[in-house]
Amino acid sequence: MGKYRGNVDAIRGLVRETEVHRDLYTDPEVFELEMEQLFANAWVYVGHDSQVPNPGDFFTTTIGRQPVVMVRHSDGSVRVLYNRCPHKGVKVAGEPCGNTGKFFRCPYHAWSFRTDGSLLSIPLKKGYENTGFEDSHAAKGMTAVGNVRNYRGFVFARLAASGEAFETYFGQSLSSLDNMIDRSPAGRLEVAGGVLRYMHNCNWKMLVENQTDTCHPMVAHESSAGTAVSVWNAAPPGTPKPMAVEIFAPFVSPYEFFENMKIRVWENGHGHTGVSHSIHSDYSAVPGYFEKMSAAYGEERAKAIMDEARHNTVYFPNIMIKGPIQLLRVFRPIAADRTLVESWTFRLVDAPDLLLERTLMYNRLVNAPTSVVGHDDLEMYERAQEALASDGNPWVNVQRLYDPGERVEGEAVTNGTNEWQMRNQFRAWVKYMTAGM
Ligand code: FES
Ligand SMILES: [Fe+2]
Repeated sequence: MGKYRGNVDAIRGLVRETEVHRDLYTDPEVFELEMEQLFANAWVYVGHDSQVPNPGDFFTTTIGRQPVVMVRHSDGSVRVLYNRCPHKGVKVAGEPCGNTGKFFRCPYHAWSFRTDGSLLSIPLKKGYENTGFEDSHAAKGMTAVGNVRNYRGFVFARLAASGEAFETYFGQSLSSLDNMIDRSPAGRLEVAGGVLRYMHNCNWKMLVENQTDTCHPMVAHESSAGTAVSVWNAAPPGTPKPMAVEIFAPFVSPYEFFENMKIRVWENGHGHTGVSHSIHSDYSAVPGYFEKMSAAYGEERAKAIMDEARHNTVYFPNIMIKGPIQLLRVFRPIAADRTLVESWTFRLVDAPDLLLERTLMYNRLVNAPTSVVGHDDLEMYERAQEALASDGNPWVNVQRLYDPGERVEGEAVTNGTNEWQMRNQFRAWVKYMTAGM
């Protein structure tokens, strides 16, 4: 047994007001406890219901490290099941996604299960007669995850039997999801354009922190975004500004731009950059979009929805959304030093196609393994993962603009370069790591 299991004080000791211990990123035991505690106590994103539009459609993923399958049941509801056969424990659904028809069939001995997980049939069932099988765990079928919430298409689950209700956990932070969804004249999103998966050899929390780290773009992305800007500056006068330049150029805005964009912090580790403006504020208008939005919502409301330029919203523990770009990233923990990053893109139902084109271009330019921005960040994460092994100093600093009196009651708005949101995440980390202990 290591030093953290069952030791609440030792876990709390990893997070101080303005610094966090390196074991948060490097210690395999801390990682194990995150999988057991944090990812069970938190509401974790599973998938979007447009990935499973028809009965029998399924999508396999993990919550923490536990395999689950999200499936459209015959009654039209979306269910989340532990992806495990009750017989010998085999993973039942093996494909990333597909349609299983009316039932799942385990590939080992062909037990079958309805799409709510209940046991449908067992070959040669008479072998279980008079064995008391009805009372076994196995007779219950595939176990359904107890707490599942489909919020306007976004499916979240909490594995722990007891804990905070969905609304309490997310509170006012749901306004960011609402804004992304309301950008569709139909009030609906659909996953579109596939998913980009990118393995990162670093701890998952480095990615979560990075989402509201506004002091790095002008430094770490200078080589990529800065080059785009200098190429654009050399373009002959009158050249129409390419979409790629609109996307790249704001990354190398000066510090004042990021200070003034502000950060909003919510309880339980959620928060977003870009309260007053953001790197997404100055994109060109898409022809016909405002007209469609006005027809759906009225002009005033349409303008309010479209003027919201929130940059990155972090939903603790491990997703980030970009409302104005209709993008969602999942930071899936694999090991203390390994994270699978998934970048999902959405179509705004009933909006002009050009918006999806911009979403996909953004994803390719910034998040793809072949992008010119994403691996600027990856190199920093890998260098951190490597150098945190040094014994010179075991602490990582998150002190920027710290105020000893800072508290989030509902929400707080602050300077856009404040590391408050990072501190907010680590305070939530302690809360959900130790809940119920
Ligand atoms: S392990 Fe699934 S049917 Fe036997
Ligand atoms: Fe970055």
